[in-house]
Amino acid sequence: MTKLDFDRHRRLRQSATMRRMVRETQLSQDDFIYPMFVKETGSEITEISSMPGVFQWPLHNVLEEVKEVVELGIPSIILFGLPAEKDAVGSSAFHDHGIVQEATRVIKEAYPDLTVIADTCLCQFTDHGHCGVIQDNDIVNDASLDILAQTAVSQAKAGADIIAPSNMMDGFVTAIRHGLDEAGFEHIPIMAYSVKYASAFYGPFRDAAHGAPSFGDRKTYQMDPANREEALREAQSDLNEGADFLIVKPALSYLDIIREVKDYSGVPLVAYNVSGEYAMVKAAALNGWINEREAVLEKLISMKRAGADLILTYHAKDAVKWMNEATRKGAE
Ligand code: PBG
Repeated sequence: MTKLDFDRHRRLRQSATMRRMVRETQLSQDDFIYPMFVKETGSEITEISSMPGVFQWPLHNVLEEVKEVVELGIPSIILFGLPAEKDAVGSSAFHDHGIVQEATRVIKEAYPDLTVIADTCLCQFTDHGHCGVIQDNDIVNDASLDILAQTAVSQAKAGADIIAPSNMMDGFVTAIRHGLDEAGFEHIPIMAYSVKYASAFYGPFRDAAHGAPSFGDRKTYQMDPANREEALREAQSDLNEGADFLIVKPALSYLDIIREVKDYSGVPLVAYNVSGEYAMVKAAALNGWINEREAVLEKLISMKRAGADLILTYHAKDAVKWMNEATRKGAE
């Protein structure tokens, strides 16, 4: 038979070792930021019903989970707080003894080398559940900035290594940068949630963090999922204002945006693999409809391939365990 003239891509796929040699993207434990919920009230460790395997931790148990994270070699966690009390301006977000501040102290004392990131937002701390302050049923931008800056400073004072503002007010990076610099924290980086869409995939997080808005929605400050050019404008503003890292959130439905923002910005890019993206895979896996290990590793590698340098994910601990197992067995 005469040889046909075509490309033989399968040559490089014929064995596990050959596939490893030509693999273009790798996952490492260093890629992950693990989110944790810390609560001020109650003494039980509570599993979040829409996020099996994810818990709300009381302060006196929090080190149990942090120990596991550190032993797996995950370099960083991000803290979300559930306060005992909420009010109109979210006072417990910037209280020196607020839950995030206290948890940061406890964790940094036990594990000084772990990078602790503080999520800087107000929605878990305000009685109306919005990310800024309210006047006449409107979320007012500039009045929210001072409170955010105050929150960031109190988090840095407690020992947070990185400040991650997630509220999507305009000018939040400028306000927080000034606040930090004036308080002597010019060395603390800002990881800005620059491109944050108004997404249905935050549903389980709002159960977990008791942070659903009591009226309206977040569409006047979070982005419209239909928009791409606006994502670049948001990223540009935060870069101009001094952001050190940019976050794109959610991740799975926005892989195109991750690639574009990465190419455009040239700063470390974080993909936030959000609660709903976790819950979907978990639910399918618990039903036996999907192979959890393979599905999770596939989606995480897709975020790296799209351009993410870091991935903020509730799957981090499982992913590292699976990656370690694969290394022991010799990867497929
Ligand atoms: C608070 C905040 C939210 C998430 C992270 N920070 C919820 C929201 O904006 O409604 C969502 C994270 C997730 O779904 O995993 N602003």
